[in-house]
Amino acid sequence: MSDNTNALDIVDLRAGYEASDVLHGMSLHVGANERVGLFGPNGHGKTTLLNTISRVIRPRAGSVRFMGEPIDKLAPHRIVGRGLIHLPQGNHLFPDMQIMETLELAAFTPRARQDMKDNLDYVLGLFPRLAERRHQPCKTLSGGERQMLSIGVGLMCAPRMLMLDEPTLGLSPKLKDELAEAIAEISRRGIPLMLVEQDIAFVLSLVERMYLVDHGEITREINRSADVDHQQIMDMYFGSEGAS
Ligand SMILES: Nc1ncnc2c1ncn2[C@@H]1O[C@H](COP(=O)(O)OP(=O)(O)OP(=O)(O)O)[C@@H](O)[C@H]1O
Ligand SMILES: [Mg+2]
Repeated sequence: MSDNTNALDIVDLRAGYEASDVLHGMSLHVGANERVGLFGPNGHGKTTLLNTISRVIRPRAGSVRFMGEPIDKLAPHRIVGRGLIHLPQGNHLFPDMQIMETLELAAFTPRARQDMKDNLDYVLGLFPRLAERRHQPCKTLSGGERQMLSIGVGLMCAPRMLMLDEPTLGLSPKLKDELAEAIAEISRRGIPLMLVEQDIAFVLSLVERMYLVDHGEITREINRSADVDHQQIMDMYFGSEGAS
């Protein structure tokens, strides 16, 4: 693999649930060390796309390559083993497990085990609140602390790429900023990123490029440097929801 190999290459990906098609042939890529956003209205397939990449859902057609190699036929734990880490929307933590136990358990692959100590130091340094509460059970954490722990879990998996599904959902502006700073710091380590968020200015503050998702298709691509009218895009995508 050369240094310029894309982290992720997706061609004509189709997927859905039983009788319903949700992804109607999506093609997109994430470059080596690139940060890419996914933006679109509720229910238009962003989470389904991430679930299909991490193979929680089987693709119906199309291909997914990670670091140049096909992964669309691999079992989900093998994809994690290769370092493509998907942090699902809403956090899925074990309520009675403590923060430290949760982080240690996340390092289950051989690669992650090897780096466990360094990654643990990194996570606790990145989120001092987690360090202070390390023996607290997950069920007692605030919403913001849960999101921090979810990202910490992803980092403990020794990621070579992270996919984050609305990590700041429901957080106050101050916590959102704190999490944004942590996400920016993670990507400064050279970890490519795919970020789903509903706030267009927020996404563009963190990524170089953003795809707009509409009814299971990628309808537009926007570069951060482009002169885009955020309000116009919001109106286009959310103003017409009632009519769709
Ligand atoms: N397990 C499931 N079974 C059946 N249909 C589902 C399932 N999960 C999602 N869907 C449907 O697939 C479509 C896309 O949902 P998805 O969760 O991918 O949207 P989204 O863009 O992530 O939305 P949001 O912004 O609200 O998170 C929706 O119509 C949803 O109802
Ligand atoms: Mg979603």
